[in-house]
Amino acid sequence: MISTMYQNRRTALFNALPNKSFVIISGYQQKVRSKNIKYHFRQDNDFLYLTGFNEPDAVALLYSDESKDTGYSYTLLCRPKDEAQEVSFGVRAGVLGAVSQYGADDAFDIAELEQALLSKLTDHTNLFISDELGRFSNQVVGWLSYQRQSCSFDTIKQYRTLTPLAKVLHPMRVIKSSHEIDKIKAAVHASTAGHIAVMQACKPGVNEALLSASFNFAISQYGCSEVAYPNIVASGNNACCLHYEENCCNLADGQMLLIDAGGELEHYASDITRTYPVNGKFTEAQSLLYQLVLKALDAAIAKVTPGACWNSLYETCMTVMAQGLIELGLLSGTIEEVMRTESYKRFTIHKTGHWLGMDVHDVGPYHDENGQWRKLESGMVFTIEPGIYIPLSATDVPEAYRGMGIRIEDDILVTQNGHENLSINIPRTVDEIETVMATSL
Ligand code: GLY
Ligand code: MN
Ligand code: MN
Repeated sequence: MISTMYQNRRTALFNALPNKSFVIISGYQQKVRSKNIKYHFRQDNDFLYLTGFNEPDAVALLYSDESKDTGYSYTLLCRPKDEAQEVSFGVRAGVLGAVSQYGADDAFDIAELEQALLSKLTDHTNLFISDELGRFSNQVVGWLSYQRQSCSFDTIKQYRTLTPLAKVLHPMRVIKSSHEIDKIKAAVHASTAGHIAVMQACKPGVNEALLSASFNFAISQYGCSEVAYPNIVASGNNACCLHYEENCCNLADGQMLLIDAGGELEHYASDITRTYPVNGKFTEAQSLLYQLVLKALDAAIAKVTPGACWNSLYETCMTVMAQGLIELGLLSGTIEEVMRTESYKRFTIHKTGHWLGMDVHDVGPYHDENGQWRKLESGMVFTIEPGIYIPLSATDVPEAYRGMGIRIEDDILVTQNGHENLSINIPRTVDEIETVMATSL
């Protein structure tokens, strides 16, 4: 069933390509951590999306072939079987497995890449490449030559066209299949347990690193052996650094804790942020600022439905937060002035969302062909994540608000008639948070 799914994706891709196309998709190689110690391998997402092949050092070729019913052929180049290497580092499919298990029409040792590729690359005039790491940068120019040997006096010598495969493939990846939605939901489900575990373990004196480990431990019980990005566990002023990853400070009474963490399950990401008081009880200032961010988030989520404009979610968050910041006395002027001068950006800093899928910042355009903001469609999955950040250095702001960053981030699926907030089960109102923290273990 799974191999049919990948075959269907390859066919859908090929149907979107012009005649005489030749597609080169490079998988990732294993990255070195130090000398002969490697990082845990994670496959390139485009490669995995199209092949399901999860070994390092592989390349897939898809190319127009009129002799096939489908109109194209599929060649996979991969590491050969090697008993000694497999005992040390794990089983390989090898070239036979590439055909029998992964549905390639033929397969070769990766060492024969250039030779195999040139034997398949014949009258294909359109070259598409997915090569995130630029592995083939030096060879591509040679592969582009076409009819260069022609000596006919009235023939113009040509090169092949070169197009990033992303231009065709990434728009397809924006709309998730039900299979993919189930994977994202499972990752969010694991993260729900992770965030609740951290909320329960959070108290003054605990270290950020311990909370990060608590998250990882909890999600591992749901099958997540990876996180989708390094956990951000930021107490107090640390939360004003958007990608704080040191996670090394002890939590202090009276601070807020921001945790942005998402488990990854079978290559699908979740990306969720919660912010709450370290001691489990909001001060008045913390509560006011927190509820403002939550109001902005809920206002944006309420707009999510097919046909809504992507940027309206950001605009909604900014309008709500600007109005609230004026009412709290943190911004001066009328709402019109604040929106026109964008003075709210001092505290709201970043955009409020991104596609979510195999990548945490998943691929695909946010604009249509005319340069207009994209309209939402059923099957899209993305985050909404407004925030307000007031560093200790903001000495013109009342002290009660200083030294905190508040971000709340949910994962949203666009459905046929509206939306589903996939991360709704992680406490997010003041009451829900205080209740969970008061009853913690
Ligand atoms: N965790 C990264 C982000 O929220 O975009
Ligand atoms: Mn995010
Ligand atoms: Mn995040």
